[in-house]
Parts: sequence; structure tokens; C-alpha cells
Amino acid sequence: MKEFKLPQQFLLGTATASLQIEGGDQNNNWYRWSEFKKIKDGSSSIRADDHYNRVDEDIALMKELNHQTYRMGIEWSRIEPSEGRFDEKAITHYRNEIEQLIKSGIRPLVTVYHFSHPLWFEDKGGWENPQSVEIFCRYTAYLAEKLGDLVTDWITINEPNVYAFKGYMEGSWPPGKSNIKALFICLRNMVLGHIRGYKIIHETRKKFDYKGETLVGVANHIRVMDPKRNNLLDRFSASAIDYLFHHTTIAGMTTGKMVFPLGHNNYPLGKGKYYDFFGINYYSRDILSFVLDPGKLFAKIEVKEGVPLNNLGWEIYPEGLYRICKKYYEKYKAPIFITENGICDADDSLRGDYLADHLEVVARLIEQGVPVERYYHWTLIDNFEWIEGESARFGLVENDFQTQKRTIRKSGWLFADIAKAKGLTKELIKKYSTG
Ligand code: FCB
Repeated sequence: MKEFKLPQQFLLGTATASLQIEGGDQNNNWYRWSEFKKIKDGSSSIRADDHYNRVDEDIALMKELNHQTYRMGIEWSRIEPSEGRFDEKAITHYRNEIEQLIKSGIRPLVTVYHFSHPLWFEDKGGWENPQSVEIFCRYTAYLAEKLGDLVTDWITINEPNVYAFKGYMEGSWPPGKSNIKALFICLRNMVLGHIRGYKIIHETRKKFDYKGETLVGVANHIRVMDPKRNNLLDRFSASAIDYLFHHTTIAGMTTGKMVFPLGHNNYPLGKGKYYDFFGINYYSRDILSFVLDPGKLFAKIEVKEGVPLNNLGWEIYPEGLYRICKKYYEKYKAPIFITENGICDADDSLRGDYLADHLEVVARLIEQGVPVERYYHWTLIDNFEWIEGESARFGLVENDFQTQKRTIRKSGWLFADIAKAKGLTKELIKKYSTG
């Protein structure tokens, strides 16, 4: 751990996704995925953190951890349980949650779509369906109408690239396909959904006589992709995957440009600037080498040898956050929100250092003129981690899923102290250092 100082106006908090914490809903693609026995530890999203019934308790935890902001998701399958029917009770629930956050001095950042959707949407072909854009817009417009007087900050879609690659190429996530054509159709529709959603949220909020700003963006999952060897073929694989995994979606979602294979360098919804901040979800680095296998898109993806790893085998690489923020700031020149950054670490032996090291990078970037304005740690509390289930532990707060007893981890207290001090002091290093 090293000392660092963040500006007073810098905001810290945590990020969660509705499906991963709420529990209680069966009407979505992920619950169905667990019925297909696809979750590694046999759990499902039905239990999760029971957050839907424990909003007060969890906001109290956020306050204890000195949150200044909180990134939360809205569950589409609760809001629109059957096509075109919107549930008043569900929207009231979220309004209450948001009002409570605001009352507690915690600024909400609301995610419209985070990997989960109602079964009727899945059964209509999900994001592969050409109508998906229209359907998503109707849902987004509803949220903007119902919450637009309260919520200034919005994320339309979380990590479209991760959703599409895992669901449509790897096949490990719903809908479990392995079809490159479907993958790019899905991504294209998500890009169109974001742009339309961006416009809808701005237009709707103008109707409310709200004096503040409206901030809309995407939470982009960005990984460092380095070639294994410094030769032409490995460099080719690294840049080809970087292009397909990052550039295609990001180009579309920022400026509206549909690059190959999403389009032909055209702008179907007009050329524009469809982001008010640039959201980065950063976790790790991949090492790529060339393989003669079109099914793998000519790339073998590995983890660097001999480096520190989290419980899921992901490299811990704080400098990667530096490299990514620099690169994307130079290109897109917008305030950066670190919309996710965190570690799977069941015994909490690595999380404190992880947190401190990544925030030190943030402080350094700010000093060098890169406007990183917020940091959302992934995540508040251990939760249902997609196909890893309940066993992957990412929380600043530990959860006993049987009893739903929450216990703040040591790294959670470190987060609270950093958030309060807006930095890491010598005293705090002494208190939390692991050696
Ligand atoms: C990100 C997801 C988030 C969580 C973390 C660990 O890719 O957006 O929901 O699963 O990874």
C-alpha cells in the first residue's frame, strides 16, 4: 500500500446488479439458466442477498461504509413482468429505494440493463430479435418517466461485450449459443438500444423541471490484452480480439459508428456523442497468442505466468487500470467513472491491497490530468455471481446466505476509511497493511 490523495469532489461507492442481490424472482433468463443446471455450485439467483426485502439494512451498511454514491440495477422482469404490462408496485419499490439513498446523501447511478431480462423477452429471441431495440426503448422510456425526477445518473447497458461473448460464442451464459453471426447481431442491437436509450433519457429528463445535469453512459468491460510474444502473429491475435471485443461495441456506443462486423462504418442513428461519462469496468489482463482456429477467432487466451491471482484465477494487475484509463481518455475525452473494479477473495487476504493499489492508480491518473471522477467497487456484498453462483466472494461485506447475516470485512473498513479521508494516509496504511 502507498499513500495517495483524491480530490474532495471525487465520489466513492459500490456497484451491484439487481439480479445478483435481490433474490425472489423467477421470471428471468438467469433463474431459468439455473433450472438448466448451469450454475457451477448448484445455487440460483432465487436466494441471493434477499436485498429486495432488506433495502433498509443494506443502505445502513452503505452509510456505515461512507458511500457517497451507489450504482444499482433495476430488474426488468419485475418492472415489465409480461410484455407491455408494467408493474406499479415494482416501480414504487425502486422509487422508495432511490429516495432513501438520496435522503442518506448517497447519489444513485442507475443501470437499466445488467445481463438479466424477463422470460418473455428471452422467448422472443432476446437481443437477437430485430424488435429488441424497440422493446428495450419502451422499457427505458418507462424508467425515465417514472424515475427521471429523482435520478440524474444513468447507465443504459452493462458490459454488452461480456454478455454477447459469453451468451453467443462461449455458450456458458444464457441463451447458451455458439454462433458468431448471432453474437454480432446481438451486439449491434445493444448498440442501437444504447443510443436510443441515451436520447430517451435526456429527452425525458428535460420535461422535468430539474436544474441539475443528466449523465448517461455505458459500463464498458475493458481488459488489457497483451500478446504473449512480441511477434507478428501474437500481436495480430491480441489486436484482433481487442478490436472485436472492445472496439466494435465502444465505437458504436460512443459515436454511433457501426464498424465491421456490426456495420460498414455507417451511422444508422446519426453521428453523435452518446456518452456524458466514460464508464470502465476493469478487472484483469489477458495474454494472447495466435492459433490456427477460426472457431476461437485465431486466439488462445491465457493468464500470465507467475503473477498474483484472485480466487477465480484472474491476474491482479493494477497498472492495467492506468493503461486503460490513459488510452480511452485520449480517445474519448470524457470524465471517467470506474463503474466496477473488484476481486474474488473469499478470505479477504488480498482485497485490501487490491483496493488500495487500484485507487492509488486513480489518484495518479488524476494528478496527470485524466479526469477520473468516481470509483465504484465491485461489490457491496457477496452475491450471486452468474455461473459461479454464491461461491465467488466479491463483497466488502461478507454474506452468510443461509441466515442472510452481513459482516463487514476488514477490507470493507478500509474502503470506509479511504472514502471518508478521500485518500490513504500513513496511519491508515499502518492500520491495514498486511505486510
Ligand atoms: C462484471 C459484471 C458484474 C460482476 C463482476 C465480477 O463483469 O458486470 O456483474 O459479475 O464482473
